[in-house]
Amino acid sequence: MNQSQYVLSGLRPTGRVHLGNYFGAVRNWIQLQDSGKYHCYYFIADWHALTSDYADPSKIHDATFEAAADWIAAGMDPQKSTIFLQSQVKEHAELHLLLSMTTPLPWLERVPTFKDQQAQLEDKDLNTYGFLGYPQLQTADIIVYRAHYVPVGEDQAAHLELSREIVRRFNNFYGPVFPEPQPLFTPTPKVPGLDGRKMSKSYGNTIPLSASADEIRALVMTMFTDPNRIRRKDPGNPDICNLFQFHKLFSDEATVARIDHECRTAQIGCVDDKKLMAEIMIEALRPIREKREEINRDPSIVWDALRVGSQRARERAGETMEVVRKAMQIDFPELRS
Ligand code: TRP
Repeated sequence: MNQSQYVLSGLRPTGRVHLGNYFGAVRNWIQLQDSGKYHCYYFIADWHALTSDYADPSKIHDATFEAAADWIAAGMDPQKSTIFLQSQVKEHAELHLLLSMTTPLPWLERVPTFKDQQAQLEDKDLNTYGFLGYPQLQTADIIVYRAHYVPVGEDQAAHLELSREIVRRFNNFYGPVFPEPQPLFTPTPKVPGLDGRKMSKSYGNTIPLSASADEIRALVMTMFTDPNRIRRKDPGNPDICNLFQFHKLFSDEATVARIDHECRTAQIGCVDDKKLMAEIMIEALRPIREKREEINRDPSIVWDALRVGSQRARERAGETMEVVRKAMQIDFPELRS
């Protein structure tokens, strides 16, 4: 097997991983890991969390643990993947600083997420140097490992585009140090939240990946269904039923077809369907939940993985930085002891 290519991706620590994160990113990362084709690096972007949460960083520590614990519970294997914490690898910061010398300001100002997020999170002052540099730090995260592929959602397309521009400019000034990172957009199923909008922490409509059986039952009960189906005897329309989307994610084909039919003919009611869905989901998520319970009994599983992973990440990042310092002529062999 020729493992010469590097895959890297990360997520900000937003706490418990939910089904949207899982189907949208984490499951895909685990498949890349299990393919055995790449060196996989996955990290928690705690510095990126600070770009928007600098005024109240109190949640970042615990959210980091939650995220790493859920990744491992979901099948990320610290033996196969390098799982690490961004702030443990200072090379990201050094490279971010060096890149900041070459990146023209307008490149950062025109990244759509810069203005969008400022407008969306208007309760926070995001008119900061760090927030402007968000995609540049992201670039450093990627290229410090000389990564070839970055599995991300379409929402990160503009960031990756900028990363390639930053790389081209760097290589142009200082020589061919970095490969141009390519995004890996894998088709992922749409995961609606309980209310039918995109599943997202900020909408409060999530189902945690490691939810307990009772938690799943309670959450599924609050799911929106076909809004036109008012009485039990009304025929329903699965095409506009949010609950039905979850059958597509979790149920086998025969069940999907049966529910489709029984809903349209009013043979099954929404409450019964919710009860069925909850049990199917509880069963499907059982291995993840059990692994997560094991981790809760022994949190060192997570801390050890992050410690070892961060060490391994530092080695690769350190090699890159030696090349970068030489290329930029900020290298003083005379001072080596
Ligand atoms: N911006 C990513 C997010 O949506 C997180 C991130 C930070 C990232 N650095 C990265 C993703 C490098 C991929 C590669 O949370």
